Amino acid sequence: MGSLTLAEAKARVQKLRREIDDLRYRYHVLADPAVTDEVYSSLTLELRSLEERFPALVTSDSPTQRVGGTALEKFGQVVHQVPMLSLNDAFSEDEVAAWGERITKLLPGKTVQYMCELKFDGLATSLVYEDGRLRHGATRGDGRTGEDITANLRTIRAVPMQLNLELAHAETFDAALVSRVRQALRGLRRIEVRGEALMSKVAFARLNRAQEKAGGGTFANPRNAAAGALRQLDPRVTASRKLDWYAYSLVTDLGQRTHEEEHRICALLGFQVYRETRVVSDLAGVRAFHQEIAAVRERLPFEVDGVVVQINETAAFRQLGVVGKAPRGAVAYKFAARRATTVVQDIIVQVGRTGTLTPVAVLAPVNVGGVTVTRSTLHNVDEIERLGLKIGDTVVVQRAGDVIPQIVEVLSRLRRGNERDFRMPSKCPNCGAKVERRAIAGGTAAGTRFVCTNRTCSTQRLRRLRHVTSKGAFDIEGLGPKVLDKLVAAGVIASADDIFRMKSGDVAVLPGLGEKSAANLIAAIASRKVVSLPRFINSLGILHVGEQTAADLAAHFGTLAELRAAALEEIDAVPNIGHVVAASVEKFFRDRRNQRSVDRLLDAGVTVEAQQQRAGALAGLTVVVTGTLERFSRQQAKDAIRAAGGTPSESVSKATGMVVAGTKAGSKLVRAKLLGVRVLNEREFAELVDAAGGALAKP
Ligand code: IVH
Repeated sequence: MGSLTLAEAKARVQKLRREIDDLRYRYHVLADPAVTDEVYSSLTLELRSLEERFPALVTSDSPTQRVGGTALEKFGQVVHQVPMLSLNDAFSEDEVAAWGERITKLLPGKTVQYMCELKFDGLATSLVYEDGRLRHGATRGDGRTGEDITANLRTIRAVPMQLNLELAHAETFDAALVSRVRQALRGLRRIEVRGEALMSKVAFARLNRAQEKAGGGTFANPRNAAAGALRQLDPRVTASRKLDWYAYSLVTDLGQRTHEEEHRICALLGFQVYRETRVVSDLAGVRAFHQEIAAVRERLPFEVDGVVVQINETAAFRQLGVVGKAPRGAVAYKFAARRATTVVQDIIVQVGRTGTLTPVAVLAPVNVGGVTVTRSTLHNVDEIERLGLKIGDTVVVQRAGDVIPQIVEVLSRLRRGNERDFRMPSKCPNCGAKVERRAIAGGTAAGTRFVCTNRTCSTQRLRRLRHVTSKGAFDIEGLGPKVLDKLVAAGVIASADDIFRMKSGDVAVLPGLGEKSAANLIAAIASRKVVSLPRFINSLGILHVGEQTAADLAAHFGTLAELRAAALEEIDAVPNIGHVVAASVEKFFRDRRNQRSVDRLLDAGVTVEAQQQRAGALAGLTVVVTGTLERFSRQQAKDAIRAAGGTPSESVSKATGMVVAGTKAGSKLVRAKLLGVRVLNEREFAELVDAAGGALAKP
């Protein structure tokens, strides 16, 4: 691969793109279980490295170009050629029956079928293709005009950048349908498909954990999180949020005669459609589908809030027309939410490690769908305002999927007159220090933040210390929250550096902790004094900086000294880091007290490892080699990884970027597959580091 000519590279690039597109199709459309993420990723990696060597070969629709490199100033507008409607809701069998009767009356003498499908709880979006290429992706907006979020939608792998106009894989579809589509495609330039952008439950949980760690605001549910991700002006942020997309309607006439065919055509063209749909001939069938989905709802990978029922015959559906903003021929048959009413007895305030005050509702205990709920986070004051919530109010509490219980509505008509407004305290409920109101501009959780201004606030300090010893930071075994809290209470630890100055005699103050355990704890602490730069940065508890951002900063600056000295513009220029985060980092290091606490940590014997400047094909990746390699000894493999900008590591975790598997690879390979870490064989690895060898050379 070292001496590839441009022509050879071009041929390879084209082959790779075809193969990657095909894998995407097989994975998302055909749900082919043989397609693995590893193969997809490693082909993409090879393509990326070829494109880096031969920039002339980069095209805007290359699978490597899903994530754009620049943030927008603001979104443009897109006028929908066909308005984006909404659906009328039905909440009971009776309401669905009433809808069915109206339809029957409007279509005298006709028998119709009903197509049932999931109602995804995400956001309606429209995708417009011209000559097979994604041209515009837009939100619904007011139904007539939406926002142009093309760059964000492109980052979603389930969204095709290029339609399958050659109709590859046509053999898996009905031949008569395929031939109608082929006819309709002749001379056709523009195709519009609509569907739902959503965030899976897993991606949502991961995002909220990361937000929490970074001291930022969390999202109330996957829908809000998906909306937040799509509203990002920087598509790199959207890409990191891992959204999914399902098609549900084909706006362009491609010869479809039923709604079911619409789905099939969407799939044929390369869209992901959800397979669990059913065509039934009466409302009993509709009810059965509704019940079945309700029963498995919790186990679905994403949230659904009902089923959509639509007259299957396209002609009849069109004939029924629109009333208000909704088509007559379809209805959203919602699930009864797991909801209950209760009283908000109080609103208390929790102090976080960055000083952020979070209001939490104290509820009269109530059973919501089988679980007793007594607390519900209100996230921030903006949420309280949005709800119009007062202390003493009767509220509706909802539990949706894996989401923590939330207050969704205030029943204000049940007020008795003695309800009280919540006011954020002007003093910290823990230490009594002044509370300040700060606006968060942009960012992931824009809004108002109230903060305790006392950095020595004991609760803040305790939470900060817990963060310092946590898994993503110094990761000190035996120094969990319980032991830590006791040491703080005993006055042994007041700040992070105290942890590293402790002697076994200090630990002995803890009741119930023997000499042996005390010695173990001291040894565990000593073993963590040498710390990687990303962990160290994360341990500082900088507002908006979690593990990932810490890793990005470390990869860019290489040493603590460089980071400490960086100007705002430099931090702002780091990939994946936006203005709000950059400003927070700069402010942190400019603060005298923070400077002193960093110095004190270093004085206490903490050594921060420098990180190699990242360049090359494995830039910023942690790579684990497992099994036996032919061409490389272990040491050579490690050197090659480092030379390509990666970090060799022994153990496979979620943070692992890549696993190189030789022969006789065992449990590490299994673990990598379980975690979805990409896996390369020796040949692929060799090609990659050889390619990087050419590009590297410079320090
Ligand atoms: S069909 C006329 N099918 O529900 C509107 N909508 O009010 C055509 N939704 O925000 C919509 N899953 O985004 C349709 N399988 C599905 C859907 C679905 C979710 C959403 C849609 C819109 C709302 C309808």
